[in-house]
Amino acid sequence: MSMTATTNTDTNTQVVAALETLLADSYALMAQTHLAHWNVEGPDFFQLHVAFQGQYEELFTAIDDIAEHLRTLEAYAPGGLNMLAGMSQVGSMERRLPAKDYVANLVEYHETLIANAKNGRTVSGEAGDTESEDLFIERLRIHNKTLWMLKSHLK
Ligand SMILES: [Fe+2]
Repeated sequence: MSMTATTNTDTNTQVVAALETLLADSYALMAQTHLAHWNVEGPDFFQLHVAFQGQYEELFTAIDDIAEHLRTLEAYAPGGLNMLAGMSQVGSMERRLPAKDYVANLVEYHETLIANAKNGRTVSGEAGDTESEDLFIERLRIHNKTLWMLKSHLK
């Protein structure tokens, strides 16, 4: 596919912006999952406490991969709580909730991240950036699976 230099630059900017959003959303979701891990109570404590730990640990690893992928695109990775919070649309929950409400809130946050990651998959595909597209596809697969598990718990 032939593109003008201008189009390439514009498209690359969109890919970088989408990766920055994915990084910020993932960091915000990790922090909310950690909060749920610490504070969940009730008869489902043991399974939810362990499940949330698996989720935030997976996110911690993924975040590093996303940031370092940005560096391979010669972009600089955003970091720090304040900067990332300002770049994410993922919400935040109260610290003390009924057990099911932690799960319901995390469902909403995964859905927010997924909607943004689908946009990232689209702009990467349109840019012909298959490595970024692959990263978005992999993250979508993992978030869709976690979403299924969280929703199944609520049924
Ligand atoms: Fe812990």
